[in-house]
Amino acid sequence: ASKQRLLVVANRLPVSAVRRGDDSWHLEISVGGLVSALLGVKEFETRWIGWAGVNVPDETGQKTLIKALAEKRCIPVFLDEETVHQYYNGYCNNILWPLFHYLGLPQEDRLATTRSFQSQFDAYKKANQLFADVVNEHYVEGDVVWCHDYHLMFLPKCLKDSNPNMKVGWFLHTPFPSSEIHRTLPSRTVLLRTVLAADLVGFHTYDYARHFVSACTRILGLEGTPEGVEDQGKLTRVAAFPIGIDSDRFIRALELPQVQDHMKELKERFAGRKVMLGVDRLDMIKGLPQKILAFEKFLEENPQWRDKVVLLQIAVPTRTDVAEYQRLTSQVHEIVGRINGRFGTLTAVPIHHLDRSLDFHSLCALYAVTDVALVTSLRDGMNLVSYEFVACQASKKGVLILSEFAGAAQSLGAGAILVNPWNVTEVASAIGYALNMPADEREKRHHHNFLHVTTHTSQEWAATFVSELNDTIVEAQLRT
Ligand code: UDP
Ligand code: G6P
Repeated sequence: ASKQRLLVVANRLPVSAVRRGDDSWHLEISVGGLVSALLGVKEFETRWIGWAGVNVPDETGQKTLIKALAEKRCIPVFLDEETVHQYYNGYCNNILWPLFHYLGLPQEDRLATTRSFQSQFDAYKKANQLFADVVNEHYVEGDVVWCHDYHLMFLPKCLKDSNPNMKVGWFLHTPFPSSEIHRTLPSRTVLLRTVLAADLVGFHTYDYARHFVSACTRILGLEGTPEGVEDQGKLTRVAAFPIGIDSDRFIRALELPQVQDHMKELKERFAGRKVMLGVDRLDMIKGLPQKILAFEKFLEENPQWRDKVVLLQIAVPTRTDVAEYQRLTSQVHEIVGRINGRFGTLTAVPIHHLDRSLDFHSLCALYAVTDVALVTSLRDGMNLVSYEFVACQASKKGVLILSEFAGAAQSLGAGAILVNPWNVTEVASAIGYALNMPADEREKRHHHNFLHVTTHTSQEWAATFVSELNDTIVEAQLRT
């Protein structure tokens, strides 16, 4: 049988384009959990529709980029600079992102954001319509259209308005907050309505799904059922689909000679020291300052460990045009500098902080040689870094310290050491506990998580979502 055609629509394409000349483009893999998980999905005939992360005002540029992306089965949505500013930097990343992660706006941004809210929201609607236009252009009857994330909450409505028979799913990669938080959003009502236009709405955890349903009952006055949300006889199915990773890809990579070489280098470089690792986009939800302060506290209280442990922190620059991200970057640099000044020696520093991304193989090597991974998100939809670390630890069986506010805490909670990232004292003592953990306890914990990560894969996640979407539509047809 031929594979089911799937149109994946997300703001971020799996590759981002960098212009090399009038008509030449360089494509690099985009960083982020959404892209990582979806790249692992192989059982469908997939086409991607999204933004290539670059402004292309000229026709030559647009034509040549369309061609370059076509080889990757990607179709670009072109957004002009002003739209990116208002829609992506503004509404998506300065309003929805912090709100969905329970982080209020910083004082210095509050008034400005209140003033520009309406124009940013208008740009958001307009951008969503641009995505819909491209979907409509490429849609073939029978396609499943899968919309992703907080950038595209209008999209299900735009698509259904032009074609009520289209099979439309929407999945949120962030938390969906308590309805008490959602209801502070000026556009709270319309954003729920537009999402409800989809046939199936998915979240990482049962809690997020429940928050969404209660927002619909409290704010819209609709009926919540175990199946989803009902509006005048029309059901929008709502459910939890916890995402996973392509674990085999990581396990296989560890066998490659170049990865083995890299592991050897790292082991020599850090011989005699335990390696702790953090891998995050440099985002306020990741709790980087809190993590580093907890590490400082640990060093402060455990002088015997000072020359025996190193924290490697990969901090991938992200959304660098948003003021709050710029402030966070300076703040993190300042703290790292202070701690390295305080505990460093002429030959070694306790924290190696990298402001850049790593290629896949370097990342795998790093995961594999790590003794303790430190994930301290203040909130996180799922957090795939924790999964990737576990997948690469079959021989080392290192320890995962994991924030209880990451979606992953629900799946890896039994194997990880769960912490409240706001409690620096608790995280510091978890670090001590992890570094001293006996081998049999490490093995037991690792085994638990490894089993989960290798059986709950991204392939399975996508297959479950799409088959649930198809079933939902069949059931709806039976009802009418
Ligand atoms: N990642 C990457 N290169 C890097 C660092 C991270 O490709 O240098 C990937 C990492 O492997 C993971 C993703 O970025 O798949 C981060 O996903 P996660 O769910 O942890 O957080 P998000 O960035 O989506 O908030
Ligand atoms: C999170 C979001 C994704 C986003 C990624 C990277 O994982 O859920 O939608 O793609 O962060 O952020 P960016 O703004 O660079 O796309």
